[in-house]
Amino acid sequence: MRILVTGGAGFIGSALIRHIISNTSDDVLNIDKLSYAGNLDSLTPIASSERYSFQKLDICDSDSIKKAINVFQPDTIMHLAAESHVDRSIDGPADFIQTNIIGTYTLLEAAREYWNTLSEPRKTSFRFHHISTDEVFGDLHGSDDLFTESTPYAPSSPYSASKASSDHLVRAWQRTYGLPTIVSNCSNNYGPYHFPEKLIPLVIINALKGQPLPVYGEGKQIRDWLYVEDHARALYTVATKGKVSATYNIGGHNEKSNIEVVELICSLLEELAPNKPKGLSMYRDLISFVEDRPGHDLRYAIDASKIKEELNWMPEETFETGLRKTVEWYLENHQWWQSILDSSYQIERMGKGSQ
Ligand code: NAD
Ligand code: TYD
Repeated sequence: MRILVTGGAGFIGSALIRHIISNTSDDVLNIDKLSYAGNLDSLTPIASSERYSFQKLDICDSDSIKKAINVFQPDTIMHLAAESHVDRSIDGPADFIQTNIIGTYTLLEAAREYWNTLSEPRKTSFRFHHISTDEVFGDLHGSDDLFTESTPYAPSSPYSASKASSDHLVRAWQRTYGLPTIVSNCSNNYGPYHFPEKLIPLVIINALKGQPLPVYGEGKQIRDWLYVEDHARALYTVATKGKVSATYNIGGHNEKSNIEVVELICSLLEELAPNKPKGLSMYRDLISFVEDRPGHDLRYAIDASKIKEELNWMPEETFETGLRKTVEWYLENHQWWQSILDSSYQIERMGKGSQ
């Protein structure tokens, strides 16, 4: 297969491309504009493969996207490019409206134009897989409730509202124009190559530096965590085996409050990085409760039974095994995150352009 991945230099997109290149014989074209969150270093393990190519493009640039699609002739488009950080969407929603809504619309139109040129059997087997989040459902308040594929949309933040809009556009393009689309909605991911401002990498890195570990409010909010490599496998399964027009919820059945997550990281660091910064007795002494996020969702939890029953996908990692792997990865890959912290990766990538 020829798979066009948007946002492949980001956290989940790079895990997906590493998975496809390492485990299949498919060709991948990665289209990414390299925003602050895009980092080609995350693709180093597969960058020399002849089956991988990269173009630095903005999904809002209609002409360039159409050209790239026509030249590459994909069998499948997997759309991950997005502005993805809730806190940034609160500080500045404009980029989220632009990329997540206008960008998805632009890509859908380019895909539709291309799809209309295909002849059978490629036209029927073509897929547009839109990768979305469980945050479109809003939050849960009952302790036993779970998000299913039919839970009504009720997004809370500019980020989740823009992702909800993009999900609606994708389904409308399927219903109105017949474009063969699939949507998946996933819970919080964690793992290697996660951008250092997100909770789990932030806590690991701040702890190693002896800096405060900021916990919003009382740390009681609950997230359902999925190891990113499990998500990458799920995405490939959905794109290759999922039913047209279907939605699949993807989750790890790993519900943890934020304070539990931070405390687990601190205990892992006690074991794996016992040489602490000078004067620090225990990593957990760095925990610092700070002002809560406005509109902070209380709890997310996914019912992932459909993808298990229909597509036979299940996560391989528990939160404990995945978190240990993640902490070990950050301990062994200082250079990856340190270059982001000092922004040197941005200088390096200026000269990279297309590969
Ligand atoms: P990320 O922020 O790490 O990566 C996003 C990538 O998209 C970056 O490489 C960035 O350069 C690129 N990009 C941004 N705007 C672009 C544009 N206009 N044109 C081309 N490229 C652009 O995000 P992520 O965590 O890897 O998330 C990927 C997708 O998965 C997103 O659609 C997100 O909504 C969804 N998702 C994320 C999570 C999570 O926990 N991180 C959970 C569920 C769903
Ligand atoms: P985050 O990684 O930003 O993901 P999302 O907001 O998409 O769920 O945050 C995960 C949880 O951690 C969320 O409830 C907010 C909380 N959080 C903190 O308590 N402190 C922090 O410094 C950050 C970045 C997040």
